[in-house]
Amino acid sequence: MNKKVIALLVAIIIVAIVAGIIFAVYRQEENKTQNNNIGEAPTNNDNVNAEIADNLVLINGGTFQMGSPETEMQRETDETLHEVTVSDFYIGRYEVTQSEYEEIMGENPSNFSGENLPVENVTWYDAIEYCNKLSEKEGLTPVYTIDGESVSWDRSANGYRLPTEAEWEYAARAGTETPFNTETSISDEEANYYGHYPYGIEENYFSQDNLEVQPGVYRQTTVEVNSFSPNNWGLYNMHGNVAEWCFDYYGEYDLENTNNPSGPTTGTLRINRGGGWNDYAKHLRSSYRASTTPSQKMSNIGFRIARNGDNNSNTTVVSDTNRDLNTQNNGNILIAYFSWSGNTENAAQIIQEKTGADIIELNPVEPYSSNYNEVLDQAQKDMNNDARPELANHVENMDQYDTILLGYPNWWATIPMPVASFLEEYDFSGKTIIPFCSHGGGEFGQSITDISKLAPNSKIGEGLSIHYSGGSGLEEDISDWLNNNGLEEQ
Ligand SMILES: Cc1cc2nc3c(=O)[nH]c(=O)nc-3n(C[C@H](O)[C@H](O)[C@H](O)COP(=O)(O)O)c2cc1C
Repeated sequence: MNKKVIALLVAIIIVAIVAGIIFAVYRQEENKTQNNNIGEAPTNNDNVNAEIADNLVLINGGTFQMGSPETEMQRETDETLHEVTVSDFYIGRYEVTQSEYEEIMGENPSNFSGENLPVENVTWYDAIEYCNKLSEKEGLTPVYTIDGESVSWDRSANGYRLPTEAEWEYAARAGTETPFNTETSISDEEANYYGHYPYGIEENYFSQDNLEVQPGVYRQTTVEVNSFSPNNWGLYNMHGNVAEWCFDYYGEYDLENTNNPSGPTTGTLRINRGGGWNDYAKHLRSSYRASTTPSQKMSNIGFRIARNGDNNSNTTVVSDTNRDLNTQNNGNILIAYFSWSGNTENAAQIIQEKTGADIIELNPVEPYSSNYNEVLDQAQKDMNNDARPELANHVENMDQYDTILLGYPNWWATIPMPVASFLEEYDFSGKTIIPFCSHGGGEFGQSITDISKLAPNSKIGEGLSIHYSGGSGLEEDISDWLNNNGLEEQ
């Protein structure tokens, strides 16, 4: 081979090596780019953009179906499905903790104790006061003007506030249309609730094999606010732990005004959503609407804060309360109670001695069995059928009573059905109903919500929850309760 040929071959080899190196480097860069793209793949939500303060998540506004379809198991009639639009807003990633609350309010009223547990046992008024004080501390404009029980909300102010009911449901659903943001069932590993009663157990009480999730743990307490997996938009415990106060008064949905709705302008009950540690799964559903007296403290109600997004509205929502309970005149009180094993009856008698009020026991024409297992089954059937057992005795002159002290045991997380018969028999418009409820640990369950739905134009006073017989403190608890509701002992 002559020298020229050798030189040409060497040149070809060098060019090939250099080209190979260039190609390899190019491939490496290309792979890197592809891998980066995989790393940056969109998460399962397009609605969360950024966080401002720690623990606040920006939710992009949008239009969604609020309420539940008629096919949803255990839905209630007030969950009318309708399209609602909400603007951008921020919402707390977690429920407000006890340490956050104490720092701002200087006290911790919670029933369970722990810095990272949600604050509970707070009234709706406590919650909005917290929002205003937090705004002041951070140099933001407080959104609420509080004048006793009358509250107005300046929607253009940039401070902290409660979410509206629509914002809450939009955020809880995080794009889902199923009963829960965990789809069609929720287990005790997904939420903190009365785990013995998973979704649908009432329907399947006599055949639990049909349940998607088997009965699980009932923790009987709140848990830390960052427990369990968050929903698709990064929010924790939208179902269970504590129910969360929303701004809105309870009322039928306004199907005309569906752009950033904020509920009726007047009412007696405020909405709370999501259910708590002692609620059955059906009351954790994204569309379930609980309504509670705003001055009522419960160990299963706390709250989560919100703030406007960028596109603020300039309107002011004035929210007038109509809570004159008419309880000044003790002569106009009726005590009406149902009791199966005597605990409620005992409380009713003490109340009667203290007030001198008229008293009536609500007896069904067909009494329940005196056997515990049998009554459980009978009550279960009654509830599934939404039965209205006929009552043996009636109030002749309901018109003369302003105030009804209504006693009952917690049965299956609500009122026994004979109490529903009583509430449907009379017109309680303008009257005050003050509940007292004996229970085995579930406190009121959703009984107050259900009373308010059965007696829609009544005013509901602060309820008394009695653990079984109420123990040695019962007399004093009853005195305090009467006093809190403006009733005098005789
Ligand atoms: C049919 C039935 C269902 C019950 N369901 C519940 C419940 O869901 N949550 C709860 O805390 N206690 C429940 N209990 C317990 C009662 O609320 C409790 O024993 C109460 O003190 C009974 O009041 P009474 O003696 O006036 O009937 C239930 C009891 C019965 C008989």
